[in-house]
Amino acid sequence: MKRIKNRSWAEPYKIKMVEPLFMNTRQQREKFLMDAGYNTFLLKSRDVYIDLLTDSGTSAMSDRQWAGIMMGDESYAGSENFYHLEETVQNYYGYKHIIPTHQGRAAEHIISQILIKKGDFLPGNMYFTTTRLHQELAGGTFVDVIVDEAHDANSEFKFKGNINLEKLENLIKEKGADKIPYVCMATTVNMAGGQPISMQNLKELRKLTSKYGIKIIHDMTRVAENAYMIQQLEEGYAKKTCAEIVREICDLTDAATMSAKKDALVNIGGFLAVNDYAVFEKARNMVVIYEGLHTYGGMAGRDMEALAIGITESVNDDHIQARVGQVMYLGNKLIQAGVPVVKPIGTHGVFLNAREILPHVSQDNFPAQALAAEIYLDSGVRAMERGVVSAGRNIKTGLHNYPKLELVRLTIPRRVYTQAHMDVIAESVEYVYQNAHKIKGLKMVYEPKYLRFFQARFEPVI
Ligand code: F0G
Repeated sequence: MKRIKNRSWAEPYKIKMVEPLFMNTRQQREKFLMDAGYNTFLLKSRDVYIDLLTDSGTSAMSDRQWAGIMMGDESYAGSENFYHLEETVQNYYGYKHIIPTHQGRAAEHIISQILIKKGDFLPGNMYFTTTRLHQELAGGTFVDVIVDEAHDANSEFKFKGNINLEKLENLIKEKGADKIPYVCMATTVNMAGGQPISMQNLKELRKLTSKYGIKIIHDMTRVAENAYMIQQLEEGYAKKTCAEIVREICDLTDAATMSAKKDALVNIGGFLAVNDYAVFEKARNMVVIYEGLHTYGGMAGRDMEALAIGITESVNDDHIQARVGQVMYLGNKLIQAGVPVVKPIGTHGVFLNAREILPHVSQDNFPAQALAAEIYLDSGVRAMERGVVSAGRNIKTGLHNYPKLELVRLTIPRRVYTQAHMDVIAESVEYVYQNAHKIKGLKMVYEPKYLRFFQARFEPVI
């Protein structure tokens, strides 16, 4: 249904089943937070009121998807649901071959091991934590070639997910095309604040990479959200459907890794999709070592069915408009309240600018981690750090990577919360912002070796 201009949007569904939330007091939350080492990843979900940790695996499935769950064909080999999923991926995304995996990082692992040689360079539109780590474990070095605007939380540039093609071409000339197996191109850049890439930039990227015989591997985790932003903002796309734009994006790339736990509206699942048969053959062989047979990867038959249905729902224009509309609603409310956030508002969450909210806390005292802890204390809203803790350490020097963006992500699960929840969140964040001068920061008292943000523990600086 086309929306009439200047009228409100509403969710294109009604609620059939509810899950009661647990409420608790500030005094209880003080203890829960201390027990969790001031890391929101280590809180128990029952101690959280509104959970904005992630949009990953947290979607509400539709009645159609639940019906699909009942149609699971749990055969070890050749499950009916695999063929439905394969056909859906081919129809909607256009890739020729698909290998199911338990989630996105498993697909990243497989493609990294197949395509990367020791000493290679992997340019990308900013890094994602698991993607970069798999590139490094395969012997590669990640190189950030995103546009400079992406590192500036206040730049209002519409397509902060774009690749700086000059930076990329300089890298190719400096290192040689044979040292660059592929460019990793993410549709909506998570770490930049959920920012889209434009079709124009992608077309130019295709031209440049083709000239040098370099592949484009598409991290298509949030491709429908990116397509929606192209439809809204890019000239010539207003009349195209989200599904058409998604297909156009995929057709400009060679292969894709998918964490289906986001856009595709399932609680678990992912896949690797490729066009090149030789790469597919290697991947199909590798998947049996790490995941499972190539017709289920790491997924149950029922989960593949829910995913096939989720893909069709994810590109529906009414769905995507309401999904992104809810994120924009929260973002605009916080902007009106004067809270520093990454602009423009991204598609899967609102990213608070902890650098500006806590200018008195140095990055060595983890401002974004401290801000996420304070929001939980105030209201039981759980957010996630996306700053120096997430950036980890430099693999060669062992020093912290100090990212320009020091952010707290309020990630909105799909089809889960209502507008009233958004109001409660906004009020809490505004209150914490107004009292931010009282926050002193944290020190890290336990640090795991890999992806430290998941399990690190902290104590308050006194
Ligand atoms: N790529 C992007 C852009 C992601 O956001 C994620 C996961 C992955 C790859 C890895 O996929 O979790 O299925 O193995 N992001 C989650 C998040 C964890 O909260 O942003 P996975």
